[in-house]
Formats: sequence, C-alpha cells, structure tokens
Amino acid sequence: MALRHLTSINDLTNEEIVRIFALAEKFLEGLGDPDAPSRVSRSTEICAGSVMATLFYEPSTRTRLSFESAMCRLGGRVISSADPATTSAAKGETLADTARIVSAYADIIVLRHPVEGAARLAAQYSTVPVINGGDGAHEHPTQALCDLFTMRREKGVLENLNVALFGDLKNSRTIHSLAYSLARFGATILLMPTPGMELPAHVEQQLRDEFEYIPLSRSNDLPDGVIKVYGRLQAVVKDAIDVLYLTRFQKERWTDVTSNYPVVNQKFLAAPCFRRSLVMHPLPRAGELDPAFDDDPRAAYFRQASYGVPIRMALISLLLDRSSDQSLKQFAGGFRHADRIESGTGGTECPNVNCISHVESGAWLERLALKSDRPRCFFCHHEIPSQLA
Ligand code: NCD
Repeated sequence: MALRHLTSINDLTNEEIVRIFALAEKFLEGLGDPDAPSRVSRSTEICAGSVMATLFYEPSTRTRLSFESAMCRLGGRVISSADPATTSAAKGETLADTARIVSAYADIIVLRHPVEGAARLAAQYSTVPVINGGDGAHEHPTQALCDLFTMRREKGVLENLNVALFGDLKNSRTIHSLAYSLARFGATILLMPTPGMELPAHVEQQLRDEFEYIPLSRSNDLPDGVIKVYGRLQAVVKDAIDVLYLTRFQKERWTDVTSNYPVVNQKFLAAPCFRRSLVMHPLPRAGELDPAFDDDPRAAYFRQASYGVPIRMALISLLLDRSSDQSLKQFAGGFRHADRIESGTGGTECPNVNCISHVESGAWLERLALKSDRPRCFFCHHEIPSQLA
C-alpha cells in the first residue's frame, strides 16, 4: 500500500479531512480539559512505541510544540532538531540524504523548511510519512486543518462560508493552504491584501483550474479593502463576513520592502459586516492585531492555536495506522491525481527561484488530470510556462 504523506492540503480528500476532524473531536471528548473545551489535558497510549522526528529549519513555537505535545499525548516519543545549525545540513548534507537517514530513526517526520517544495522532496526519499510543517511561502497544510476545524466548531458548518483573507496574502503559506481548503468546501473567498501583497498568480490560477472558482462581483456593503471575491458560479456574495482571517507581514520572505501594514482593532471591527465575524489568526502576531480585542467573543485565535493538539493527534494516529477503526491508508490517497510526473530533462526549470528544485534534484513536472492540462512544478506547484515544458 502506498505510503501516505501530507505535503499539501490537496494531498487529502474532503472525506479524509472530515475523518481527521471526527477523530480530533473524539480526542477532545475523551481526553479534553473540562475547564477549557479546546484543550487536551490527558493522554492515551495508542501510539506507544512510535517515534516522531521534528526537523525544523525555521523558527516555530506552535507548530513544533503542538506536534510534540500531540505525540506525547498519544503515548509516543519525540526526537527533535530545532536548530539547523546543529544538524548535518550545516555540513552540506542534502535534504534527500537527511530524509533517508531520519526515516531510519523515526516512524513519522514533521519538517519545516524555508525552501518551497522541501517537504515534497523529503517525502520522495523518506520511507516513513512526512508531514509538511511549513515550506517557505508555499503551504502549511496542518495549519489549514486547524483553521477549518476552528471554523467548523465555532460556526457549526464548513460549507459555504464567507471568508475574508487579510494581510500578506503573497508570502503567507497558511493563506495558500487555507484558500485551497476553503474552495474545497465551497466557501466564498474575499481577498483583502495589503497593497503589493496580493495572492500569488499561481494560487489564483489553481483556484480557477482545480476548483472552478471564478471572480464574483462584490457587494457595495463590503469594506473597501476587499479587492476581489472568488466563488462558485451560483454563489451570492453576502455582506456579512463569517470569518476574518489575518496574517502578519512575512518579513523574512521579503527583501527591501518596508510595509505600511494595517492594524485590525475594535474600530476596524465595528463595521456592520464584521458584526458576527470570527476573527482568526495563525499567530504569531506582530502588531497587526490589537491585543485590546482579545476579550471580544469574536476573537478565536487562541482557541485556534489550542486545537493544534487534537488535530495533530488525529493526523499522527491516522498516518501511523494506530486509530482503531480508521486509517488514511484505506484511501488510494490524494485529492490531486497527477497524470504524469516527469523528472526534468530538456532544460525544464521551475520559474520559482525559491523552489527546492534549484537546490537539489532539478525540476520535475507534474501534469494534473485537469481540464487545463497546465504543467506545474511537482515540488512547489508554480506553473511551468509551456515553452519550457
Ligand atoms: C505560521 C507559519 O509559520 O507560517 N505560524 C504558524 O505555524 N502558526 C504563520 C506565520 O508565521 O505568520
């Protein structure tokens, strides 16, 4: 049976996402903190004997610690490398070799890396499941699972929400995974980028190609910051925003840009369209979300971070095939089915300069079984111009 990895949110089917949520709910019910409904406070032994490696080549608080906490709560053990300066990467080892080696030491690997497509490359060489804990500006699929889970718990539904994405939409990997998963569940997506930080063209193109999303005309009652609305043909753009999702300015991914980043505060959120909005943020915040708002019932970001533990417990136990009645191995796997994967020959190069294919391996193309047949980079999903492919 094929080894399952999670390198993009699109590696999971909608059915699998719903299964992960059902198991996370079970963990919250059975092991939750009676005084804090979003918190897991007790442990089980279902992953006893298993080892998880967390390999983090970029800073992290929530992702690494919630993964490690999740594995501890499942009764497993954790080995961790949180500082690239202390791994063999500092001696020039390739990620491919590191993935081969670490998969001999652990049963599951969580990788965070500054280069786009790194997790997909590691997955090609690992003999155990690889989970992407964030790869450059590309994707952060487990954050999207936490985000969707929060929306479902707090709004009661997942389908057809009206979700505004605010801030640095270009370089926020959480936004990219979230946009795909929202489209998968039929949300209307309102883009509110900081000027110059619009959603990357290849992400918009995927929304159009894979999810048949189209630009919709916006209602006049929406705030000025909404520059585009994407949805399904039949969607009616509502004035009320169900979820406002903010991100910080991703300063580590920009060179020579000083941003005039907006601040979201009580005054901003007093607009009628935000009256019932859930305000979400993957955190950390860096000045763009006023702490004076924290006690407002619409502020969901600390609960959102807390759900990281049950969601990751569910994902780990499913990938390790340790949950009694469910396994991700039951599925052939993947939402996206590549028609063909070709390793780069004939001078094919990924146009994304921060793609792992430029660091090791060379470009691979995947041609998806889609209407457009648009060739994309196998690692970072940027479109490869047809004259190159
Ligand atoms: C995010 C990340 O690392 O992409 N953090 C997280 O995992 N919760 C968001 C960010 O750093 O802005």
